[in-house]
This record gives sequence, C-alpha cells and structure tokens, in this order.
Amino acid sequence: MNFERNDPCWCGSGKKWKKCHYPAMPKTQLSEQALFYLKEFNILLKTPEQIEGIRKACAITAKILDQLCTAARPGVTTLELDQLSRKLHKEAGVIPAPLGYGEPPYPKTICTSLNEVICHGIPDTRPLQDGDICNIDVSCIREGYFGDTSRMVTIGKISPKKKLVVDVSYECLYRAIAVAKPGVPISAIGQVIEDYATSKGCSVVNQFIGHGIGLSFHEAPEVCHHYNNNQIPMAPGMTFTIEPMINAGVREGVIDPIDHWTVRTKDGEPSAQWEHTLLITEDGAEILTLL
Ligand code: MF3
Ligand code: CO
Ligand code: CO
Repeated sequence: MNFERNDPCWCGSGKKWKKCHYPAMPKTQLSEQALFYLKEFNILLKTPEQIEGIRKACAITAKILDQLCTAARPGVTTLELDQLSRKLHKEAGVIPAPLGYGEPPYPKTICTSLNEVICHGIPDTRPLQDGDICNIDVSCIREGYFGDTSRMVTIGKISPKKKLVVDVSYECLYRAIAVAKPGVPISAIGQVIEDYATSKGCSVVNQFIGHGIGLSFHEAPEVCHHYNNNQIPMAPGMTFTIEPMINAGVREGVIDPIDHWTVRTKDGEPSAQWEHTLLITEDGAEILTLL
C-alpha cells in the first residue's frame, strides 16, 4: 500500500492523512520546499541551526575584513595584509577558506585585487601607494560554516575613473540586495546590476559570479551579475553571495598565465567589487556580513 499525504487518514477520521496521523518529522528532516530545491536545483535551503552557524561565520568574516581595511595604508604591502589576516584568523579560531583552495592551490589567506585586477589578486610585496584602489576579499570557515565578504579600499587621491568603478560597484551590490526576497527570480539580481552599471558607462564582468555558500565555499545557485535567464525563485533559507565586478572599460578579463589566479581587465582599465553574504528571509534579504 502506498499512502499519499493528501489521502484520507487510515483511522477513518475523514481528515487528510497529513493533518491527522501523518508521522511527525524529526526536526532534522527537510521541509517539502527544501526537498524540492535540493532535488530540482541542488540548492540547500538552510535549517535554523545551519543559519546560526553561517551567521557566526559571517560575523567573524566581516570583522576580519574590517580590521584588514583599517590596516590598508600607503606603504603597507598586500603580503603584510595577508600576514595580518593569518593572525586574525588564528586568533578568532577560524580557517581562511582561500588557502589551498582550487587548482593550482591558492597560496594565500585573502585576495587583494588592485586597480585593473578584477578578482583573485594574490598578496605580494608591492606596497599600496597613493592613487590605488584595492579589493580585499575575506572568506572564512568557522565550525564547518562559511562566510565571504569583500570591500574596496582607496589609497590617497584616486582618479575619477577609479572613483566611478568603486562607487558604481557599491551601488550595484546594494541595489541587488534591495530586490532580493522570496519569489523573485535570481535573474533580477543581474538585471538591476547591469541596468545600473551600463547607465553609468561601466561594464559588468560575466566570467565570475556570486554563489551559494554556507556548508561549502561555492555551492548552488550561480548568481550572475549580468543579464541572464535564471528563473529559480529565491526562497527563505537560501544563503548566497552577491559580488558584482564592475569595469571602467571592457568587461573581459584575462587570467594570469603564470599564477593561474590573478584576473586583469583585458584593456587595463580599473575594476572594482564589493561582496556580501546574504540570507533570504520570509520577506527580504538579511546581510550576514555586516559589521
Ligand atoms: N572569495 C572569492 C569569492 O568571492 C573566492 C576566492 S577563491 C580563492 O568567491 F581561491 F581565490 F581565494
Ligand atoms: Co564569493
Ligand atoms: Co569573496
């Protein structure tokens, strides 16, 4: 015999089985919606317990990023920022997710992407100098849960073009967060970002995207910042990043053929990025990587 949840209950009450003698689910069991998202899209809608873990990981990630941004001054090398990052992760009892990640294994604990570098810049001995813009990207693992956030720092007096990409990428991130809520297709994020960026004469990188996060560093769904047709509706319990990379010139990036990580704009024009980890709630989105 094969009962369905909506069948009349076997006890003869006349009520649906699910409203009557349907076996109580253990707390760890996934809801029907979570099961659907998992099967259909490979997306994990997080349980309250998982959300608490991710929330804590994100809070520490945001704090470490803030301390690194404060330390980013003229004359400080990005390698020194990486060394400080190692210390801060250790003190907080968390693991830097980038270290050893991917292929070839990423060699440092943070990404530092300067000027024409779009993303995945590797800390090195170059000191920050007047006129630089630098993205610092921190991702950490706390008790198995992940957080990921990045900000731009500006050093001294920057050119109007650099100021443009820094400001536009920030505005793109917050416009995208503002439309995020249950039922809205994931494509709405790319829609608002590309609309705004192009209205300001900038381009949107499409080779790198935001991502689900929480139980691993990069999970489903893919979160494109450019125009796309991803019709998956956002749903409560989804955790993902939005991290628009905005260029002053062309959108194309070129991966460094030697280190296989650093991505630079094809035309050498500046690029900027801001990133938050978000939780979709019942009526909107909560930024988990706020200070
Ligand atoms: N933090 C980056 C992101 O936002 C990923 C960096 S992967 C690394 O997804 F290996 F380069 F660190
Ligand atoms: Co990310
Ligand atoms: Co990141």
